[in-house]
Amino acid sequence: MTALIDDFSRRVRYVRISVTDRCDFRCVYCMSEEMTFLPRAQVLTLEELEQVARAFTELGVEKIRLTGGEPLVRQGIDGLVERIGGLPGLRELAMTTNGASLGKHAVALKRGGLSRLNISLDSLDPGRFRRLTRTGDLAKVIDGIHAAQDAGFERIKLNAVILKGRNDDEVLDLVDFARTEGLDISFIEEMPLGDVSDHSRGETFYSSDDVQARIETRHALLPSAESSLGPSRYFRMHDSDSRIGFISPHSHNFCSTCNRVRVTVEGRLLLCLGNEHSVDLRHTLRRYPGELEPLKAQIVAAMALKPERHHFTTDGDVQVVRFMNMTGG
Ligand code: GTP
Ligand code: 5AD
Ligand code: SF4
Repeated sequence: MTALIDDFSRRVRYVRISVTDRCDFRCVYCMSEEMTFLPRAQVLTLEELEQVARAFTELGVEKIRLTGGEPLVRQGIDGLVERIGGLPGLRELAMTTNGASLGKHAVALKRGGLSRLNISLDSLDPGRFRRLTRTGDLAKVIDGIHAAQDAGFERIKLNAVILKGRNDDEVLDLVDFARTEGLDISFIEEMPLGDVSDHSRGETFYSSDDVQARIETRHALLPSAESSLGPSRYFRMHDSDSRIGFISPHSHNFCSTCNRVRVTVEGRLLLCLGNEHSVDLRHTLRRYPGELEPLKAQIVAAMALKPERHHFTTDGDVQVVRFMNMTGG
């Protein structure tokens, strides 16, 4: 089988597929307040999304993460999970969600073969949660987390993007919440994708080292033996099963171990989150409907375009015009 290997000898085993650019939230670090969304003709159909997943698994990809926007607002998402979940060769099918609709979907997702869930949670204060998400309801997200646990999901991971002056004082409370609920939690440095209008990223940057220092005022953090390829650096606490991760694109670059590529809902294969190098899979999907070989050949050839690293800075400039909801993180 042809493996996906780039010019820096990195093997791609993981693809993140965005199933919609839409979302029921408008998180201040992700979107601007007034967003317009893609017209339907530009969006891959469920069949095309499945075809993309199939092509990647035939090229040795073992893990697929479905992202958005918010993946659970895509009509037919439960059926898509079931179809992708059954693909031969796939070891893990995961999803990153804002959690608000898990009450409706958790059972079907579990039954369909979804193995892992990451859920965004930036604040435990309802008013502040609303301000950070602009439209989100904290109680629905907490209910969603519980619905996922009841449906049998294990090792659920929370994602908290920490912004200076907005939620940095909640780091210890978020850790306590994760410990009490038996969840893992990752703290994320904000990335400069899209002009989000709410703030300049230069004002809100808060480094993972500062988050870690806050946590260590209360909990000793022991490096976790389990080091996944990818962005997260994991730690354990001696008195809890919860793991604490740091995703630190600014302060601890992880590009040399990058194992992933992304597909946007328009069918653009993006070789790096922090660069615009891409190829148009939608054109091929629509020119050769139902055929996998042209798609696979295009994906293999695209590996030569994968850049060595991103060059994010914290000076507040927007570095990639594309908004995060087009990419799924
Ligand atoms: P795993 O599949 O367990 O590795 O999950 P993850 O933590 O990488 O995925 P998730 O969708 O939960 O994303 C958490 C954060 O990591 C988001 O802010 C993503 O944008 C960021 N992230 C994921 N992959 C990359 C990457 O390759 N580069 C950068 N810079 N950030 C990434
Ligand atoms: N920087 C870092 N993380 C972001 N996310 C969304 N926008 C940004 C950004 N600008 C996170 C969300 C979600 C994940 C998919 O990406 O919080 O957890
Ligand atoms: Fe929606 Fe996720 Fe972006 Fe928030 S971060 S607006 S939940 S896509």
